[in-house]
Amino acid sequence: MRHTFRLPEYNVELGPLSAFDTKAWIAAAGYSKVLIVADTHTAALCLPYFFEKTGLPESTPVVVISAGEQHKILSTCEQVWQGMFDARLDRKALVINLGGGVIGDLGGFCAATFKRGVDFVQVPTTLLSMTDAAVGGKLGIDFNTIKNAVGVFQNPAAVWVDPHFLQTLSYRELRSGFAEVIKHALIGDTDLWRSIEGMTNLEGADWFAILKASIAVKVRVVTEDPLEKGLRAILNYGHTIGHAIESYYLHSATPLTHGEAIAEGMIAESHIAYGPGIRTDAVTTVIRRFFPPVHIPAYLAPDVWQLMQQDKKNANSAVRMGVPGDGMYDLLTLNLSFEETEAALLVMGF
Ligand SMILES: NC(=O)c1ccc[n+]([C@@H]2O[C@H](COP(=O)([O-])OP(=O)(O)OC[C@H]3O[C@@H](n4cnc5c(N)ncnc54)[C@H](O)[C@@H]3O)[C@@H](O)[C@H]2O)c1
Ligand SMILES: [Zn+2]
Repeated sequence: MRHTFRLPEYNVELGPLSAFDTKAWIAAAGYSKVLIVADTHTAALCLPYFFEKTGLPESTPVVVISAGEQHKILSTCEQVWQGMFDARLDRKALVINLGGGVIGDLGGFCAATFKRGVDFVQVPTTLLSMTDAAVGGKLGIDFNTIKNAVGVFQNPAAVWVDPHFLQTLSYRELRSGFAEVIKHALIGDTDLWRSIEGMTNLEGADWFAILKASIAVKVRVVTEDPLEKGLRAILNYGHTIGHAIESYYLHSATPLTHGEAIAEGMIAESHIAYGPGIRTDAVTTVIRRFFPPVHIPAYLAPDVWQLMQQDKKNANSAVRMGVPGDGMYDLLTLNLSFEETEAALLVMGF
């Protein structure tokens, strides 16, 4: 099984790596050299399969960085750029980012800035990066603890999505990415939403079908709005409140995964945008099947609110929230007040 999404500047291939004829693609593009960026986990778990299925020589230079969001920072970029110089990459070289969203964002940023930019391919290995981060050309790193504070828009030369990599992913990471799948279904695919409503757990899921539908939503939104001037704000569903919850928990004894926070965010934002009723109930019921409630005591509402005010998409001092409106791909933008946010957190039983 294989599916190709054709975007204006590049293709997203979904299927087994062996089906993409990557070697021929690299040869046809005339790249002078190839360098792989991986983290410690993907170097151990994904790289052997990658070499086996692409036929690229195992002598291909690999820069291995430490795994984890805390390494999505400038000093890690220096390590990657150094690796690029050590491997003598010129401007016709190709960088292959083999990993989750951290590798895609950081490796892509390093490639887009090395010698004013070399081509790169995203090979996402987490569900989150397959369905979300690898597509759309947003690259960057965290700075002074602010997420994605420094970065650029630059499209990859290709994205190769092989669901095989999901086999070694922990349940928690898989579920984290599934929050974005739920988000995409609610934004633009009622059939995908119905099939998620019919799922009781993630075991035995048809990942090819789920990824095909979920990636299609992301592809459509970023094709329509590549530089985040309008519709792309719909992808922030769950993130206005979710990011604040994620940041709050980041320094606690029990940090949340991105998806766990976004799942809470989608429920809270549904309460605010749609009020009580069938729609909010349906979103809540399905999300709760996969994500047990995260308890945020009501007295934390001011802290969550303060974090929400740091959101990049705010204009002036208002907190803006983008959620799906009445139809598919219909963006509803609301200005939030502290009272509404506090009330939503209270309704959720926090
Ligand atoms: N650019 C975008 O549009 C965009 C969109 C969404 C998220 N992001 C970014 O993505 C990042 C989160 O991505 P993520 O959740 O993939 O995080 P991640 O890259 O840190 O991966 C999560 C963990 O899984 C490990 N891992 C990766 N693939 C594996 C595999 N196949 N088997 C076993 N372990 C594996 C990683 O080493 C890491 O420990 C954040 O930095 C976020 O800002 C970017
Ligand atoms: Zn997200």
